[in-house]
Amino acid sequence: MGGPHVSPALRAMMDDYVHARVHEPVRFDEKANRWEVLRYADGVRVISDFEVFSNDLSAFIPDHEELRNFSKGNFQAMDEPRHKELRGLVTQGFTPKFVQSLVPRVEQVAAELLDATLERGQERVDMVSELAAPLPVIVIAEVMGLPVADRHLFRKWADALLVDNGVDALFSEEGVAAMAPSIREMNQYLLSHVDSYRRSSKDGLIRDLLDAELNGRKLDDFEILGFLALLLIAGHLTTSTVLTNALLCLDENPGLAKELRADRTLLPPMIEEVMRYRSPLVWINRCALTDVEVGGRRIPKGALVGTSLISTMRDEAEFAQPDVFDIHRKQARHLAFGKGIHFCLGAPLARQEARIALTALFERFEDFRVAEDEELVYHDPNDMNGTKKLPMDLVRR
Ligand code: HEM
Repeated sequence: MGGPHVSPALRAMMDDYVHARVHEPVRFDEKANRWEVLRYADGVRVISDFEVFSNDLSAFIPDHEELRNFSKGNFQAMDEPRHKELRGLVTQGFTPKFVQSLVPRVEQVAAELLDATLERGQERVDMVSELAAPLPVIVIAEVMGLPVADRHLFRKWADALLVDNGVDALFSEEGVAAMAPSIREMNQYLLSHVDSYRRSSKDGLIRDLLDAELNGRKLDDFEILGFLALLLIAGHLTTSTVLTNALLCLDENPGLAKELRADRTLLPPMIEEVMRYRSPLVWINRCALTDVEVGGRRIPKGALVGTSLISTMRDEAEFAQPDVFDIHRKQARHLAFGKGIHFCLGAPLARQEARIALTALFERFEDFRVAEDEELVYHDPNDMNGTKKLPMDLVRR
């Protein structure tokens, strides 16, 4: 067994949180210019009380044309009533029923990817490039009606926005300047697809958005662009990280694979526990709309407030033995998909993809282990909780 797969930086962060949850569960981080919320109950309140905590963080983000273009339809960064109106346009597209209809296709993609791995006959592979990265990006491209062949671009843009420059890059002039070329490329790409849909009679999500009306008017191209960019970016790096995080958890708990192979109904609760134990996203940010007291501290109006998913989901006041990975926990109350009106739209899809990918691995391989003789390379724990690559040794059936 590979032992606990935790980077020294994440270990230090988690050790600090154990102490801080008791002594300073709400604190101001001067460097990030952000209030940190570390306890579960406080986090639930900050994430879900949308009348006091806004998703509009534009006050902290330098003004930049490319960002402005794609912000017009990015409803994750909006408050009511606009958020509800825009989200309502795609809610129908992401129901559990729709996601269920995608299952055969997701199974096919997972099978094709792993059969290609088998054919190459390598015993050691990088599970990120073999399965975890391509599966969600192919699925989201097909759902959106974008060419799957362009998937390397989608991955590049997601990396640029979420991890290459650090998640906090959005809050600085230099960070936004570093991301701008990727954002510009993504904006132009998506606008050209909106345009080609407009000139054709093709069906799909982009057509639905072109035909949609909000308060008696059609969406403009930038609104559609923001919509598409949100789905494209939110939908795959996170899902691929959950997949590799599930493999890390399996590697750390040797009896678990046998249990899951014997009873596949345990896969969904296992995936929920992976989300709690190793949430891919680390921070959910809000802006305080009024002076407000949280956890005994007064947070001033206009402040940036970050809920730490790493800390809240290890809060011993909410989870018994929080550092134990236990797929038999009674309830999945984790916050890895958020909570309240901004709850992740893609959660049913991400859950299915993770279940299908693990099933496909179990079906093809007798055993799969994290390579013991290679150092794992982790993301910065403030950006994303997971590894950049995942070398694994495979034993075929
Ligand atoms: C929102 C996490 C997969 C689309 C969110 C939020 C979280 C999250 C924490 C809430 C943000 C907030 O409260 O401000 C994740 C994780 C995923 C995942 C961990 C993978 C395991 C997906 C997928 C899609 C998607 C596959 C698209 C197909 C969205 C959208 C929102 C969102 C559109 C904004 C919802 C709103 O503001 O109303 N996600 N997500 N996500 N997610 Fe996901």
